[in-house]
Amino acid sequence: NTNIIIDTDPGIDDAIALLLAAASPELTLTGVTTVGGNVSQQQAFINAQKILQAAGKRVPVYRGCEQAISRPLKPDTEVINGQNGLGDIDWPEAKPGLAQSTNAVDFIITRAQVNNPVTLCMLGPLTNLALALVINPDIAAGIHRVVIMGGALKVSGNVSAVAEFNFHTDPVAADIVFRSPLNITLCPLDVTETLKWRDGWLEPLLRGESKAAQLTAEMLGFYRAGEGGGLHDPVVIASLIKPEIMRTRPCDIHIETRDEGLEGQSRAVWSDSGKVRAVMEADVDTFFNLLGERLMSLP
Ligand code: BDR
Ligand code: CA
Repeated sequence: NTNIIIDTDPGIDDAIALLLAAASPELTLTGVTTVGGNVSQQQAFINAQKILQAAGKRVPVYRGCEQAISRPLKPDTEVINGQNGLGDIDWPEAKPGLAQSTNAVDFIITRAQVNNPVTLCMLGPLTNLALALVINPDIAAGIHRVVIMGGALKVSGNVSAVAEFNFHTDPVAADIVFRSPLNITLCPLDVTETLKWRDGWLEPLLRGESKAAQLTAEMLGFYRAGEGGGLHDPVVIASLIKPEIMRTRPCDIHIETRDEGLEGQSRAVWSDSGKVRAVMEADVDTFFNLLGERLMSLP
């Protein structure tokens, strides 16, 4: 059983990743930290609580960075995630009790100092983790692994020709994280863009008993109506549950922080001694079978 923290900016695919984690007995979700990205930090904080509530999970939620380190945040949610970040679908309000007063950055630092190292699942811009490392670089020793959704290695970017959204939103933060001694697994667009669902996959979710699965199917109806590409963030969670369905390659990652046209680009140098494991492929059918089953097991 793996203890995890999910850092997230929900976001439709973030929401599905949270639900998958909540439904997976292999993982113990010890905290959720939010960050501005797909939506503002405030909206992300509200959304994370609603999603956990829908999953029937009492997990503490910590409010993180309002702004990126690199430049002002410009959440552009209307097309892909809707104005509320969750496909403009009404999720039931969260009951009080999940929201914490401790800041996400402090929580990450404190949690990394406890024995029993934790795995971080990073689903948004890397601002919270980068600040934690700036404040206390020693935390790297208390973090077992970091699994990150971000970057585009051999494929094109999704916000510029070369850059992926999470790294483009805060390239300086991504640079800090990749220069750290953390043990990193990266899930770039190369794999996440291949995770497109078939029409038939949504039907059982809509017809079943699980309210969380129905909400997922409704959100995905919106996601497809927008530009919706692959299901990005859930692959981070799936890589912890079923690593055997993923093919990884070792590399080192360099993040472009200066050149304006290339900002946020992630360049891979492939080498057997590389410190990053990049997930380059996943078994698409097994991924969607797992995701569907787990979602339908929720309330
Ligand atoms: C990433 O950007 C966000 O829009 C998604 O939630 C995902 O984390 C994909 O580029
Ligand atoms: Ca995200």
